[in-house]
Amino acid sequence: MNDEINQSLKYWNDLHSNYERDDIKFDDWLEKFEKIINDCSTPILDLGCGSGNDTLYLIKKGKKVISCDQSENAIKNIKKNFPEIFDTKCFNMLENFPFPNKYCDLIIADLCLHYFRENDTFKIINEIRRVLKDNGHLIFRLNSINDINYGAGNGIEIEHHLYTTPDNRLKRFFDKDDILYFFKDFQIEYLNEEIMTRYKLEKKIYLGCVKKQ
Ligand SMILES: C[S@@+](CC[C@H](N)C(=O)[O-])C[C@H]1O[C@@H](n2cnc3c(N)ncnc32)[C@H](O)[C@@H]1O
Repeated sequence: MNDEINQSLKYWNDLHSNYERDDIKFDDWLEKFEKIINDCSTPILDLGCGSGNDTLYLIKKGKKVISCDQSENAIKNIKKNFPEIFDTKCFNMLENFPFPNKYCDLIIADLCLHYFRENDTFKIINEIRRVLKDNGHLIFRLNSINDINYGAGNGIEIEHHLYTTPDNRLKRFFDKDDILYFFKDFQIEYLNEEIMTRYKLEKKIYLGCVKKQ
């Protein structure tokens, strides 16, 4: 277990070693939720922010963003590339989130909730619920089970739809039922399997927007 956590941290820290603001591109997936984003007056958490694609999108919309990631390198680059950032937090989502109950109205989790065992996934989703205000939203993208260009169905399946990668990390692929199961305590406002084109090859994801009720 610890080996998996260390392996994941090393992998992402290596990947996030250094980049410049001009290298950061975002796609327009959040446009669909323009009203929720515009109406949000609390800081927005960008979980698993990585290089800051979504942070950049939200900053350009004039929003207060708290970029969050386990990778010190990712956070270091966010601070360097976005001096106007409202705040950053470096923490592992497997631990308690460093925010009080009902802290914010909106959390973005782009491609960062699909690396965990079932019990850990529930733990993270419960932390998201705790930190959201009532009627707050979580907007996410998750690997689809049909994401064959990016490893769906490869490796050893250690839990339903959870696979080990060759470098000993974990990668989960979701179908619709999985998402309804994990987010059963939320109201589903939008859920659809879609193709994202940020990467070289088409990537199949589930795009979702759920509300804390
Ligand atoms: C595929 S990247 C997505 C980055 C960004 N959200 C985007 O879409 O461009 C996944 C990110 O999740 C972060 N991550 C993975 N496991 C994490 C954990 N346990 N706690 C916090 N962040 C984690 C990684 O460091 C990485 O930056």
